[in-house]
Amino acid sequence: MTTYLEAEANPIRNTGAIRLYGPEAFEGMRRACGLTARCLDGLAELVVPGVTTQALDDFVYDFALANDAVPATLNYRGYTKSVCTSINHVVCHGVPNDKPLKEGDIVNIDVTLIVDGWHGDSSRMYPVGKLKRAAERLCEVTYRSLLLGIEAVRPGGHIGDIGEAIQSYAESERCSVVRDFCGHGVGKLFHDAPNILHYGRRGEGPEMKPGMIFTIEPMINLGRPHVKILNDGWTAVTRDRTLSAQYEHTLGVTEEGCEVFTHSPGGLDTPGIAFEREPAAAE
Ligand code: MF3
Ligand code: CO
Ligand code: CO
Repeated sequence: MTTYLEAEANPIRNTGAIRLYGPEAFEGMRRACGLTARCLDGLAELVVPGVTTQALDDFVYDFALANDAVPATLNYRGYTKSVCTSINHVVCHGVPNDKPLKEGDIVNIDVTLIVDGWHGDSSRMYPVGKLKRAAERLCEVTYRSLLLGIEAVRPGGHIGDIGEAIQSYAESERCSVVRDFCGHGVGKLFHDAPNILHYGRRGEGPEMKPGMIFTIEPMINLGRPHVKILNDGWTAVTRDRTLSAQYEHTLGVTEEGCEVFTHSPGGLDTPGIAFEREPAAAE
């Protein structure tokens, strides 16, 4: 059975109950998510061949502190970076390091900034120079699957409606949906109930109600859906080493449908636009 809680009146820990937030929380989430989106916009011009993912991590750390925010992943469950950078066959939780990005790589950058206690969680794919068509297509399919998931959000619907929308589309494009990671409730807690599966069936799972706040963050593979975790304890990769992509938005359920909190102010969050931008001047 699903339990719903009035968010303001209940302690901050994941009890499995689904919190329903009021206008103040929505305002707080708009601020945190807006800053996260600006940070992701700022990263766009930095992602060029030769840059290290550590340099991207440094940018996010500096951006957060300059804006009175804290990167949520820093010291989260033993993670020591400000951002996750997941390249090519890395599905998620790639750890920034000093290896330079190469022409043709696709990299997901996942940023969560905490502002006044509220968590803004979002990620996008960034092209490194010119991409092969397969990589570009995977990013387009993944972005489209996120949009279809978002379109399935409405009060009275069920969480399974989101999963079905994503899965049926991704599979119709001969791609697969990763099962081992999911979206999540978010607010003053980074990862809260409910789990948002990116596969499933319409009508299954908890009912969506106005005031719920959660992420949708499908990971879509060109090959099979199975993943393994590398020895660093974090980096998740596709078992068959095929490419994987991910996009993530944080949103709130409203009376009419939903409000996406992490849209790009610069309109840079769609692959069509992000992938056609002029490359930054060579160093
Ligand atoms: N931002 C990721 C998410 O979308 C979580 C990263 S947790 C970390 O939920 F510890 F791996 F950084
Ligand atoms: Co998330
Ligand atoms: Co994230």
